[in-house]
Amino acid sequence: MSVKERLSNLTEIANLTSEELTSYSAEGGLSVEQAEGMIENTIGVYGLPIGVAQNFLINGRMIPIPMVTEEPSVVAAASLAAKLAIAGHGFKASMTESEMIGQIQISRLPDWDKAIENLQVHKDALIEIAQKANPQICGRGGGPRDIEVREFSESPMGPFLVLHLIYDVCDSMGANMINSIMEALATPVEQLTHGRIGLRILSNLADRRLARASCIIPAQSLRFDNFKGRQVIDSIVDAWAFASVDPYRAVTHNKGIMNGIDAVVMATGNDWRSVEAGAHAYAARNGKYTSLTTWKKGPKDELMGFIELPMAIGIVGGATRVHPTAKANLKLMDVHSARELGAIIAAVGLAQNLAALRALATEGIQRGHMNLHARQIAISVGAKGKEVKLLAAQLIQENDIRHSRAQEIIDTWRKND
Ligand code: MEV
Repeated sequence: MSVKERLSNLTEIANLTSEELTSYSAEGGLSVEQAEGMIENTIGVYGLPIGVAQNFLINGRMIPIPMVTEEPSVVAAASLAAKLAIAGHGFKASMTESEMIGQIQISRLPDWDKAIENLQVHKDALIEIAQKANPQICGRGGGPRDIEVREFSESPMGPFLVLHLIYDVCDSMGANMINSIMEALATPVEQLTHGRIGLRILSNLADRRLARASCIIPAQSLRFDNFKGRQVIDSIVDAWAFASVDPYRAVTHNKGIMNGIDAVVMATGNDWRSVEAGAHAYAARNGKYTSLTTWKKGPKDELMGFIELPMAIGIVGGATRVHPTAKANLKLMDVHSARELGAIIAAVGLAQNLAALRALATEGIQRGHMNLHARQIAISVGAKGKEVKLLAAQLIQENDIRHSRAQEIIDTWRKND
């Protein structure tokens, strides 16, 4: 399909308005005026490609997945893996409640035990302060859930306590909400402990806000070229085993997962640094950095995959509601809660990992990558329309995918025009 055809197809599927449709064009997306309201010293807006991954059957629903990325092959790879998963009824995905954690650091305590005791005895009063700090969210079913006290008896600055507030932020990402509430709690905590209040800030290790996805793929669907289905499964499981024990491999394995996750997080105007930070810290939660996914062979020789990671994303507030393309993307996916969006994002991460492992463990990733790389080079030397495909094909056929060779070819074409 051409870009125009793709857009009109999506318009039908998601019932997009003409304004939403225009938000996908370079001129119709985020305006400089809107950008000015988002950050300081604005000088303009910065474009990135957005594509739609296909074939995602998640919890029984086919969902077009908008992905913002500069990396070739990501959208194609996700679509391919999602197609494989359809044979096993797609992805099952879910998310826990939207519980974020806020922290207050308390040091220089005159009486360590008394401070802990006071915080525990007055827990309900602190929870009430947290409730009053944002009555609206409590009205929507969110609000404070618990308070925990953590002890750090040794640190470069000496001992200190950390108060954790567990707080359900509902459909928002929650950073601003949590930060304001932690500031509101600071003085009461100081009065209860007689310590010195240090930082008051949310934690990006959102390990109470976890997104999960799984898939089961029958062996016959994994057969391709000369590779038998079972052989592909064994190779994928072996590739996962590598990431499960070696941090040098795990970080690349997880980077591939984040190729998919970040792309949807960005497409929906969410904070991808927060999701990245949470994901990698979660991958190291047992003291050793490891894979965010698990792959194993099931009892009927099928491939079984699972992912779990923190997912601090929202559908209200922040850029999600300012950025016109982010808004259109939420409509495209037809999501109405942060939990629904988080579950979808987890499924995309799992699919992205499956695609990478399948390629790496069989034919290698360069074949697919090189096609797109060649197209990028063709565009960079000025190829237009059909020329892009033709020039890319010639570069691949010559096995010489270099900028200088592409320039030579196009110069010859132009001379002969
Ligand atoms: C490239 O962006 C991502 C991969 O390196 C992921 C992986 O190795 O699993 C292909």
